[in-house]
Amino acid sequence: MPSFRVETPHGSYSAVVERGIIARVAEHLPPRRGKAFVVSTEDVWKHQGEALERGLADADYERIWLPGGEERKRLAQVEAAADELVRRGADRSSFLLAFGGGIVTDMAGFLAAIFMRGIPVVQVPTTLLAQVDAAIGGKTGVNLVAGKNLIGSFHQPLAVLIDPAALETLPAREYRAGLFEIVKAGVIRDASLFQFLAERSADVLARRPEAVDRIIADAVRIKAEVVSADERESGLRRILNFGHTFGHALEAETGYTRFLHGEAVAFGMRAATFLAERTGYLSAQDSVEILETLDLYGPIPPLGGIAAGSLLARLTHDKKTIRGDVHFVLPARIGEAEVVSGVDERLALEAIRFALL
Ligand code: GLY
Repeated sequence: MPSFRVETPHGSYSAVVERGIIARVAEHLPPRRGKAFVVSTEDVWKHQGEALERGLADADYERIWLPGGEERKRLAQVEAAADELVRRGADRSSFLLAFGGGIVTDMAGFLAAIFMRGIPVVQVPTTLLAQVDAAIGGKTGVNLVAGKNLIGSFHQPLAVLIDPAALETLPAREYRAGLFEIVKAGVIRDASLFQFLAERSADVLARRPEAVDRIIADAVRIKAEVVSADERESGLRRILNFGHTFGHALEAETGYTRFLHGEAVAFGMRAATFLAERTGYLSAQDSVEILETLDLYGPIPPLGGIAAGSLLARLTHDKKTIRGDVHFVLPARIGEAEVVSGVDERLALEAIRFALL
């Protein structure tokens, strides 16, 4: 049972990776708390609800539904869920159990952060992307039309319970979207994880448990290390945004409907890898290896009809843009990344054009 500690000034907790943990959730719930509210979508519940029902056994809990879809990850939905909590008698002793993919873990985490000025949340992610990234580290929030996650809060969970067996019912497209986040973890921090992904793609894509459990554990370890070193993203944590600056622009430009978050990140990693090579940060050989490994887990949906200039304009709306200067996370070699600013706009445009091809 690999378990990784996240130690931050605003909360310390374990991210536990264990097959079948959903059906044993009660063992990990906080003692002496009030009622639990499971925040999920009806679709997640259809596939995974039975296991969680078993896991919650005798616990006192109710369910609250959120809508699915990145385009509905909006403040109005969080307000509606908060009203529902009040109607069902939630109070400051209550806690939330976020049960779903990254959209659910972001929204339920944000709801927990602001409901009655903050109640605890236990994260139980059911998609690969949420298991290795979104549910760990306390980032919560919703989208604005102007950009992704522009309203939010840091709210560390009480625990993150990761069940790789939940991925058996995950659609292939969602699974591959999560794999892109694991490729990201390898590129920025762990060359041996990257090599495993490059050499064992057949096992990974076939969801062989030994391969899946290994890459999840590695990615969770990396995320726990980085967040523990820099909870509020003032330093090291910024490397987790490799591919995100370009990726967020793509998601916002296409109304959050055409690409899954992981697919947009894959697009962004292609652009950032091109940019890293063109600016001299990355060798041509490492660049080819990264691009080829991304291709192993692709393709992403067609990119037709998207204007490179519009994506460039959107970069300046990203949260990572400081005083108008766009910051890019660029790989320096496989296993290491740097945050770079002052990049010539024409090179950024060239990188977008490359990734759009
Ligand atoms: N998903 C990037 C982070 O948690 O910082």
